[in-house]
Amino acid sequence: MTSIRSIKGFKDILPGEAALWQSIEKTATEVLGAFGFREIRLPILEKTELFARSIGEATDIVEKEMYTFTDRSGDLLTLRPEATAAVVRAYLQHKIYAQDPVQKYYTIGPMFRRERPQKGRYRQFYQINAEIFGVGSPYADVQLIVMLVDLLERLGVTDAQPHVNSLGCPACRPDFRRALLDFLAAREERLCADCLRRRETNPLRILDCKVPGCREATRDAPALSRFLCAECRSHFDILQGALDALGIAYLIDNRLVRGLDYYSRTTFEIQTSALGAQSAVAGGGRYDGLMKTLGGPDIPATGFAIGFDRLAEIVAAGKGTETPGPLVFIAALGAEAQARAFPWLAALNRSGIWADMLFEDKSLKSQMKRAGKLGARKVLIIGENELAANTGQLRDMTTREQVPVSLDRAVEELRRHLGADG
Ligand code: HAM
Repeated sequence: MTSIRSIKGFKDILPGEAALWQSIEKTATEVLGAFGFREIRLPILEKTELFARSIGEATDIVEKEMYTFTDRSGDLLTLRPEATAAVVRAYLQHKIYAQDPVQKYYTIGPMFRRERPQKGRYRQFYQINAEIFGVGSPYADVQLIVMLVDLLERLGVTDAQPHVNSLGCPACRPDFRRALLDFLAAREERLCADCLRRRETNPLRILDCKVPGCREATRDAPALSRFLCAECRSHFDILQGALDALGIAYLIDNRLVRGLDYYSRTTFEIQTSALGAQSAVAGGGRYDGLMKTLGGPDIPATGFAIGFDRLAEIVAAGKGTETPGPLVFIAALGAEAQARAFPWLAALNRSGIWADMLFEDKSLKSQMKRAGKLGARKVLIIGENELAANTGQLRDMTTREQVPVSLDRAVEELRRHLGADG
């Protein structure tokens, strides 16, 4: 019988990696808290219509990447491919805007997109999302970028570069769209089949096509920045001025159109060279029209999502593998020593100290081997002689030095030697 394996593009996060994820999450929640974001936890399953309406029918995500199914009562449901639409849904459903439209939320969890799996691209992946509702000012966009830069710096990611763009608004984008279509009309034969289709459905996405022929054909395409209306221009200027004032180096990237249709004005991505082809570790932007599209009031919004899997890969690459181990391993030799030591183990564990022991009567040699494998800092040895002398030996696994430990006060003495008394 063949053994059952996980689904293609779905991966397990094993304990070594999970420890790194925990520490990243801890740093992220500290940073998010300092910037005033509060956690919101949402379902993984939503009505398909929510994503179709917000992300856009003519996007890759909605056209071909969603995990959608009909449940037993005939409802069309989708495993969320992103979180933003659901955060907006919750804000509207609970009428939170009626008490206070200005809200800052974060949410961390799995997303699902049926993309072609490769390194840094999975079908179940995780995101850290941050969203600001009710603030139209470009300073809110800048605050998101500063927060991303701060988080990445704290995690030791040194080559993160923000790319920024403005996609304009419903007032000025149609002019650009027309200019782009005019430009493309003379270059039809050089576009890939997808881009030929996108001309009808979503022409801005052509700027972001990775096919070399399309990139070449659109090299001199008109720049969206030249078509911005006065309000969008001013928004983008203030954003750049604020980033300059903070000394944050960024790149203006006219092709940064993003893969979701809800954006208006600011878009941004954080790219790093550490990721190869999948270079964006985070992406986001302003989506002032989404609340209305989803049937709510006209409330501006801006946000981003960090790709947790990608972030963990970058942080791990910069760190080397340093796996934590127990502070102490108790090597109890024989049934009597085991019976004596077991309550100490429980007391240490219950006081928050990582201590470990083998519940089998193994030789000193194999117990020391086990302690080494676990990466224990110290080993308390108790055999027949130690029981007779009522004194165990505490060995430091790095220096090999041993100190005596009174077995009558084993837990207190261990705590003192492990530096856990303070
Ligand atoms: P997104 O650019 O689609 O934006 O995703 C954000 C980040 O999630 C990407 O930069 C990448 O790091 C990570 N990511 C996306 N797809 C995958 C995948 N298949 N495997 C691994 N990582 C992936 C959004 O999702 C927007 N909702 C962001 C946003 C929030 N905009 C406003 N608020």
